[in-house]
Amino acid sequence: MTTYILNGKEVDIWSEELSRYHSRSIVDYVRENLLELEERGVDPFSEIVGKEREKELLKNALLSGSSILFRGRKGYGKTTFAKTIARLLPERILAVKGCKINDDPVNPVCFSCKKKLEDGVIELEWVKPRFVRICGDPMMTTRQLIGGISLQKLREGYDLDSPEVFTPGRILKANRGIAYVDELGAVPSALQTLLHELLEEKQVTTPEGDIVPMKIDVIFVASTNPANYRGVSDIKEPLLDRMEEIEIGPPKSVEEEVEIAIKNSNSWLREAVVMPEWHARTLARVAMLARSGETRLPDRVEVEPSCRATIKVFDHVMASAVRRRHRAVMISDYGVSGVYDFSNVALGLKGRMKLELHSNLDEAVNALVNDALEITCSEVFSKMQTEVSKLASELGRRGEINAYDYREFDEILPVSEEEKASALEFMLETLVRCVGMAERVEDGVYVFSEL
Ligand SMILES: Nc1ncnc2c1ncn2[C@@H]1O[C@H](COP(=O)(O)OP(=O)(O)OP(=O)(O)O)[C@@H](O)[C@H]1O
Ligand SMILES: [Mg+2]
Repeated sequence: MTTYILNGKEVDIWSEELSRYHSRSIVDYVRENLLELEERGVDPFSEIVGKEREKELLKNALLSGSSILFRGRKGYGKTTFAKTIARLLPERILAVKGCKINDDPVNPVCFSCKKKLEDGVIELEWVKPRFVRICGDPMMTTRQLIGGISLQKLREGYDLDSPEVFTPGRILKANRGIAYVDELGAVPSALQTLLHELLEEKQVTTPEGDIVPMKIDVIFVASTNPANYRGVSDIKEPLLDRMEEIEIGPPKSVEEEVEIAIKNSNSWLREAVVMPEWHARTLARVAMLARSGETRLPDRVEVEPSCRATIKVFDHVMASAVRRRHRAVMISDYGVSGVYDFSNVALGLKGRMKLELHSNLDEAVNALVNDALEITCSEVFSKMQTEVSKLASELGRRGEINAYDYREFDEILPVSEEEKASALEFMLETLVRCVGMAERVEDGVYVFSEL
């Protein structure tokens, strides 16, 4: 009989109070939490915008205890998806006190805990199951991934075969939790073989041919870019064969792209200034147009801007609006100076996008922003025909309108007070792009031009 001690007191580990916190596989906990959330109609992956199909596939793969591989180009949410799985881990479990791999107190796997079990006394502690993120790196060593011998402990006088001498690597630290390998293809192929053996056979073979059993309990999740994408190396076939692959692609609609950008842009900026819908849709469209190829770009896009580009574009444009004391984003916030300057948009896009023939990126960004503005202006034109024609006759009568003097146009601006100048400016811009009867001459100022 083993004696279990928790907080200095002997406890019955099989009591109703404690029995559900040990001796179960991590998959069991995740499965239970997943089903419970489903029953309550709660989406466990609510941080992820859209991707309904992918969420369904992920739930099925998790219920069956499978390993998961997220495959997709950069910046569309692979890592974010993997992190949300951690939400399904139990709040706490019982582990052997001080164990580096949160060992199960009834069925321990590490040498030192096994020894404690043999000795008959195990101290317990509450731990939160870990989500261990491992960055795929071609220089990764066995010691980092699986574990190795601590020279420090040997120096301190421990024997080579004493349990303290072994230091667990990243994957072992994920025992009774989740191991997430970011960019699995970048892990050296010899280590991929070890990983495969560890997950499949629950053992590793040392370079000397010794087989070391390691019955660790992890949910294994990984991500990778598509094959041959930017020189990324491949994942070994046997490992691939044991993982469920879920494709993670770009957002499907401008609404999704906007929601992702709003959710992830800087929260201080978001509080400080309003990003009106017409600008949000325009800015979201810039990267989307570069991805789709349906635009007047001088040459083919080799590396497309991801959601990260859109998020940064939102940040830079909002930052400009805050600094210029705008209550809501204006067109001038797209750039630094000039009538149509889009350099703030370019700031978010440039490093994240590459054209095949290396043509001028500033020109490419200008073409994208102009195309995006045109699409949103035509949306405004068709949605607000009455208001836009009223504004057209006003402009004809006055010859010039400054969007910052919006007060006289209250009745045709069905928006909140903060958004009025921005809305008036965008409607004037619509007169430029869809009717051709206005010209933008400076920040917010439009003059009548003959049709
Ligand atoms: N569908 C989505 N829902 C919510 N956020 C998203 C979505 N797609 C992308 N993002 C956001 O975009 C950013 C980039 O996503 P993430 O880091 O998960 O991409 P990744 O696919 O792991 O990229 P990489 O291959 O470069 O590692 C994050 O801020 C993330 O929150
Ligand atoms: Mg990632």
